[in-house]
Amino acid sequence: MTQNSLGDSVVQKTVQAQNNGVAATATHTQPLWLLAEITYRCPLHCAFCYNPTDYDKHTQNELSTEQWIKTLREARKLGAIQLGISGGEPLLRDDIEEIVAEAHKLGYYSNLITSGVGLTEKRIQAFKDGGLDHIQLSMHDITEEINNFITNTKTFELKKKVAAMIKSHGYPMVLNVVIHRYNIGHMKEILEMAEALGADYIELANTQYYGWSLINRNQLMPSKEQVEEAERITNEYRAKSGSKMKVFFVVPDYFADRPKKCMNGWGEVFMIVTANGDVLPCHSARVLPNMKFPNVKDDELGWSWKDSPAFNKYRGDSWMKEPCRNCAEKEKDLGGCRCQAFLLTGDAETADPVCSLSPHHHIIEKAIEDAKNPQLQAQPIIFRNDKNSKKVISGELEERTKEFHALP
Ligand code: FES
Repeated sequence: MTQNSLGDSVVQKTVQAQNNGVAATATHTQPLWLLAEITYRCPLHCAFCYNPTDYDKHTQNELSTEQWIKTLREARKLGAIQLGISGGEPLLRDDIEEIVAEAHKLGYYSNLITSGVGLTEKRIQAFKDGGLDHIQLSMHDITEEINNFITNTKTFELKKKVAAMIKSHGYPMVLNVVIHRYNIGHMKEILEMAEALGADYIELANTQYYGWSLINRNQLMPSKEQVEEAERITNEYRAKSGSKMKVFFVVPDYFADRPKKCMNGWGEVFMIVTANGDVLPCHSARVLPNMKFPNVKDDELGWSWKDSPAFNKYRGDSWMKEPCRNCAEKEKDLGGCRCQAFLLTGDAETADPVCSLSPHHHIIEKAIEDAKNPQLQAQPIIFRNDKNSKKVISGELEERTKEFHALP
């Protein structure tokens, strides 16, 4: 899955849910969104997966059904209203039906984020009966060749069947397509495919570089011109098509002047519980040095959110140094992404190097140049799979990862 799919659009949906009176007392200091990264196991091996490259450490110690249900209850008490059930591939667990039904009883708006592998008529009917509100399906391209290449699986036909199944059960058709060098030239055709599948909403999520996509950055990053052309085609499509399909184009931050307000602010609205129970303010937080994150097996969720040192570390702006500290725009982006700052500069408290005012912005410029270098482009992609994750953990891939300051 993608990091983008949990960005601003979700915050908007959350706010809509509040406006419907579901959580009228919600404030900005509550975890409105709970993302359950329920398993890191996955039948797909996407080159751009944002999951941690050392995920193999967390595949044998997943939370039990009871532990997830307890977590859902505690998070709901804290004010969480949106639940994302994600992975890896959540459908590899056989208790999702139970978890969905409990989420519905608790009053969550629940969203299953899936590759579609493992979704059957029987399971989707059980989800419908249990009160699942929303299914987000990942698609990869209009061609079988690129779908199968980038996921390192043969899933092209299956995804189309799953899309039809989701539609036939009356769910809104929500597609997420991660955009990279291999499919950015197919923007118009991807939009046409989505419309033909009856999509109500499509997110064109330009790759953000974390996890596996960071170590494959030279292989995945398109040029600035390609991104601009893709955005132009998207805008033209929006203007001309007259279709009801909503199109969301996530601008890749390496090509922006200012960084994104990552997770809408550290410990502001998002809480992530990982497969092994770690409680995180963002997907990549475990790369940060000298941080101990709470875990639902040992720590109470309310304490984790409100009082744990990890959740308070980058809340607000008191941690900032120059140039962020006195920047007129600091409230807009809160200095960008702490994980990206650390991964690329080795300093978690510096400005996100995406910002053109950052003293480290040259790192981004170099990354963009490197991605144009045919020799670097030609290095093999390291697909997300257990074998490669073990290699990352053992240091076997150090040659490839040494320019970053932690295992992404
Ligand atoms: Fe942006 Fe961690 S991923 S702060």
